[in-house]
Amino acid sequence: CNVVVLISGSGSNLQALIDSIATGDSPARIRAVISNRADAYGLERAKLAGIDTLVLDHKQFDGREAFDAALVEAIDGFDPQLVVLAGFMRILSGGFVRHYEGRLLNIHPSLLPKYKGLHTHQRALEAGDREHGCSVHFVTEELDGGPLVVQAVVPVQADDTPESLAQRVHAEEHRIYPLAVSWFASGRLRHADAGALLDGQAL
Ligand code: GRF
Repeated sequence: CNVVVLISGSGSNLQALIDSIATGDSPARIRAVISNRADAYGLERAKLAGIDTLVLDHKQFDGREAFDAALVEAIDGFDPQLVVLAGFMRILSGGFVRHYEGRLLNIHPSLLPKYKGLHTHQRALEAGDREHGCSVHFVTEELDGGPLVVQAVVPVQADDTPESLAQRVHAEEHRIYPLAVSWFASGRLRHADAGALLDGQAL
């Protein structure tokens, strides 16, 4: 299963995917890593793993539609069966999302449907939540709103800061994202009209 990973930053989730594939546990193959930022550290991680990289700087394009069209062309050049958003900090147009519907995954640092959007750790702390976490979901046109695939719960500690909480959530992201990608790559996970299915059962 050919996979293209989109990043904007550190790429620790990309690293977790690379590591899980290296163990031989996942039938996924990362064909390319594409970043909208030339300084994304994840590009170094990809190069170290011998994976093709590409930078498409959104600032060089005249608007979202033009950027997304170039992105689709670049991605499709690698012929992926799955596109993985791993800290890709751009909102994607409806046309982009529809083009990859059913084969586009994202990871979000909250227990969706809670805390869509940014600053999720701070918002969970401010709300006094006892539990926080992360979610892998199929991407639809509703921001952070597509069918859930897998979540991990992280207990909030009394002395947590947004940073300490983020660190523990990240550790769980690194566990559940490779799991979801390997489910998809082995044909066990799919996005049906009614939602996400694992081995034919609704998630
Ligand atoms: C993660 O917290 C992920 O949930 C969010 O962006 C962050 C990416 O981190 N979508 P990294 O670049 O994988 O380290």
